[in-house]
Amino acid sequence: MTAETNSYRSILDQPESRFPLDVGEFNSKIRKLFHASLTTQWNPSTVIDWDGIDTSAYSPEQRTALRTRWSRRAWGEYGAISESPALQIRFCHDRVDPDAQLYFSIRSQEESRHAEISYRLAEKFGGYIDAPADDYENSVSTHGVRRLALDADTSVECTVAALVCSAEQVIFNLFKHIAEITTQPAIRKTYQLILRDEARHCAFGWYFMASRLPGLGADARKRVRDAVVTMIEKVELNGYQIAWLAPESEASSAQIESDRILWQAGLGASIEELEKPVFVSSLREIRDRMKREWDIDLPTFYHPRTGKI
Ligand SMILES: [Fe+2]
Ligand SMILES: [Fe+2]
Repeated sequence: MTAETNSYRSILDQPESRFPLDVGEFNSKIRKLFHASLTTQWNPSTVIDWDGIDTSAYSPEQRTALRTRWSRRAWGEYGAISESPALQIRFCHDRVDPDAQLYFSIRSQEESRHAEISYRLAEKFGGYIDAPADDYENSVSTHGVRRLALDADTSVECTVAALVCSAEQVIFNLFKHIAEITTQPAIRKTYQLILRDEARHCAFGWYFMASRLPGLGADARKRVRDAVVTMIEKVELNGYQIAWLAPESEASSAQIESDRILWQAGLGASIEELEKPVFVSSLREIRDRMKREWDIDLPTFYHPRTGKI
């Protein structure tokens, strides 16, 4: 998301100031999310009846498509595991509300169970693939948030607005759509479990921003807007979540084809015709909500496959 420059200043190079340390409740909505997370734990190793999945019921093409899809999902969740603690360090550095600091510790844990359940599904259907094809790596490997979170010159509001209120919100809407059209019980359950967690992750972003925006001046708000635009244009519209939005390549075509195979059998994927309206309305909802709640105007977006959004 950001180009490597010599002027990058990391918060890790700045002196730490921890005290006075307050861990009291400042933001009751975020504290409630923290407590909700504590009472809705699930264990990837036992939440699914792994032995009950009869993989011989699926064709070799379906199994290949499944291991590919869930490997890809694991890469995405791994990205979250690596960025979430970076954000937590940032929250502590910036001494934001303690509620946010506490909440993010469990948010990281939730991302780790998403990674594990994705890995287990990939293993079940033929084996986890540990790296994307070379020509696909730019689309799926990272959205640069870990670096951004530690960048002293990028505000925490920019990062949360881009990562949570934009990228995570888009994933949530896409997953909801996919869960609705999935008939394989273990896969449907996996999506539902992840969605329950992600609903809280998204709620966190909007609660957090609501608490921070009143303190931001015009310049800081413009930077929030620019961070969101960069995330949507350079990451989402580059196919970070959706293969048919990625630049055309052998790997993205293969992904589109394998998603079609899964969609046909209700195995937890969707196709361009169905995903497009979900994606477009998701971006529109984000724009409307940012206008309504933050008074921030997002521009019209464009992608050759969607037209103007
Ligand atoms: Fe996740
Ligand atoms: Fe998440």
